[in-house]
Amino acid sequence: MTTPAASFSQDELKALVGQAALAYVVPGEIVGVGTGSTVNKFIDALATVKDRIAGAVSSSVASTERLKALGIQVLDANEVTRLSVYIDGADEIDGAGYMVKGGGAALTREKIVAALADRFICIADASKRVDVLGAFPLPVEVIPMAAGQIARRFEALGGQAQVRMKDGAPLVTDNGQHILDVRGLKIADPLAFESEVNQWPGVVTVGVFAHQKAAVCLLGTPEGVQTLTY
Ligand code: 5RP
Repeated sequence: MTTPAASFSQDELKALVGQAALAYVVPGEIVGVGTGSTVNKFIDALATVKDRIAGAVSSSVASTERLKALGIQVLDANEVTRLSVYIDGADEIDGAGYMVKGGGAALTREKIVAALADRFICIADASKRVDVLGAFPLPVEVIPMAAGQIARRFEALGGQAQVRMKDGAPLVTDNGQHILDVRGLKIADPLAFESEVNQWPGVVTVGVFAHQKAAVCLLGTPEGVQTLTY
């Protein structure tokens, strides 16, 4: 007899993995904290153990505000030289732990904080697991004056790039830059793709996280939290 799968909503799956991520928080240390609706669940869980951590380094203004509102001390990234873990969501994650990120426009600071950490712990619901990256529009943070030429470079690769809009104007990131969302790509070699796009003048950050891939993914599934290690 098989056990019927529980029916969790996507929001409940995010809460499950947010709670499960607490197991990776090292007591007495500073935690790297990402951005997004899944991370918001993690931040809520982190608040229940806030007296057991030394604070957090945050990857966005939004996460900083949430952390502070819950009484968690937020340190500047320049105040730390190393983090044990960085905990963040993803828009897509493949079978090797390579990710697409930046749906929340925080990709640049996410890469910066992830680069301080020994391990990237990805928290995601099962809808984020893909075989090949590229179904989710790829976010790329760009210097606004380079947006046109970067869009043409993506077109040459078979993609269609659009400036992300908010309230009728280009969205402005926490770093004062714009985001291109690129549709129609199949990113078969994430490491090479990330290296290539990083070379293009005007690219601030490409939302492929291959050089800083996940070490662990806590995936929320109908059967509960699945732990994938890479
Ligand atoms: C923000 C991100 C997020 O991690 C990503 O968009 C996933 O968000 P969510 O947990 O809301 O689905 O990269 O820039």
